[in-house]
Amino acid sequence: MPADAESTFDVVILGGGSGGYACAFRAAQLGLSVALVEKNKLGGTCLHVGCIPTKALLHAAEVADSARESSAFGVKATFESVDMSGVNAYKDGVVGRLYKGLQGLAKAHKIEMVEGEGRLVDPKTVEVGDRRLTGRNVVLATGSYAKSLPGLEIGGRVMTSEQALQLQDVPARVVVLGGGVIGVEFASVFRSFGSEVTIVEALPRLVAAEDEAVSKQLERSFRKRKIAFKTGARFAGATQSGDTVTVSLEGGESIEADLLLVAVGRGPVTDGLGYEEAGVRVDRGFVIADERCRTGADGVYAVGDIVPGLQLAHRGFAQGVFVAEDIAGLEPAPIDEMGIPRVTYCDPEIASVGLTEAQAREKYSEVETYEYNLGGNGKSQILQTQGFVKLVREKDGPVVGVHMIGARMGEQIGEAQLIYNWEALPSDVAGLVHAHPTQNEALGEAHLALAGKPLHAHA
Ligand code: NAI
Repeated sequence: MPADAESTFDVVILGGGSGGYACAFRAAQLGLSVALVEKNKLGGTCLHVGCIPTKALLHAAEVADSARESSAFGVKATFESVDMSGVNAYKDGVVGRLYKGLQGLAKAHKIEMVEGEGRLVDPKTVEVGDRRLTGRNVVLATGSYAKSLPGLEIGGRVMTSEQALQLQDVPARVVVLGGGVIGVEFASVFRSFGSEVTIVEALPRLVAAEDEAVSKQLERSFRKRKIAFKTGARFAGATQSGDTVTVSLEGGESIEADLLLVAVGRGPVTDGLGYEEAGVRVDRGFVIADERCRTGADGVYAVGDIVPGLQLAHRGFAQGVFVAEDIAGLEPAPIDEMGIPRVTYCDPEIASVGLTEAQAREKYSEVETYEYNLGGNGKSQILQTQGFVKLVREKDGPVVGVHMIGARMGEQIGEAQLIYNWEALPSDVAGLVHAHPTQNEALGEAHLALAGKPLHAHA
């Protein structure tokens, strides 16, 4: 056995977040030897400072709203207050249990966990401290960080989502900079916890990447919830003094708050890690990879948030699994980025897959759409939520986009993504029986209507 055999692996993975650990687990299942380098905690952004803790906050927010609004359902309860230490204990408990489970899985897969900050020194070698790991294949999965704006320093009352997850008290007034996914989710949490919230968004609408109808409905719902928002508003600066932070906008307006949450996007973590020097193509910090997740350097793959595209944990999982299977010679089919489901967990929830109406109109000569209002859906009425299911299809062709908004509608994304990815015709879905009374029925009803046989819908 060569002296360095213990440091030679089939796959060396740099980064133990969603993309990295999914790749590690699948590679190990396929009989490959794996080293996984992580400087912080296995699970990465998603588990520790992203998807999981934020959704726990959103659930606590829903509980607060249920207590506050209970009389609308004939239940007498009194909403007292939100105790952040209790909320944090609940959130940290969820994260802790999942973290333990993940560590157990890594152990069961016999993955060599290497703690520390790794650096790519050549296409086959990752250096961690004084250890050199040699990989027949190397997978870059170093993830992303919360960006700020030039001149806007994070600290004190100016936070990113990462610090906002550790709040000890509910702030009375919050300005949320950025009306994208993180912005609207946190705005929703803060409002439910009792804060006065103002969102500042440079683009003309909230969640600008979604179908325009979804943005409009979200804005209506947020207005009703008294979440203030300024769209087409550009940030000019922020100053902190004593207990407040003052946010000024281009045009002269200023807003005083107790907290400024900066949610203007996430940037790739690639700086100083030796990628370019090793021959990996990097553009504005992102690693350029082809549809097989291959970079410019031989045997070096990249997955997750460092690759341009949707920065979503499940995209990372899928790419990680894909790369492991590619290395093992299984020749997996490339991932269709448009078929990746997207869910934003504010109240009301947003769920979408495929093309927006505007994107479809660019791609196809004729497009048909249908909007099924949740007003006709029994379960949504029981929940007292408003929203819709909007379908976009190529004229006489398959459904190419599904856009949903309403309480709990995120859970409907499963069928929606099958419809998109299996290129279903409205008549295919109309032929399937949807359980009554569920919100899932709304998806069925929308397809019934688009297939020309609406049941609980006008036209
Ligand atoms: P984002 O790209 O979704 O939104 C950032 C927003 O900030 C944009 O609407 C942008 O126009 C606005 N903005 C940028 N500069 C501005 C300025 N100077 N003044 C005013 N507005 C400005 O990024 P976000 O929300 O930070 O999320 C980062 C990533 O994390 C996204 O890719 C998102 O998909 C992902 N994520 C996904 C979640 C989910 O799937 N539920 C939850 C949280 C994050």
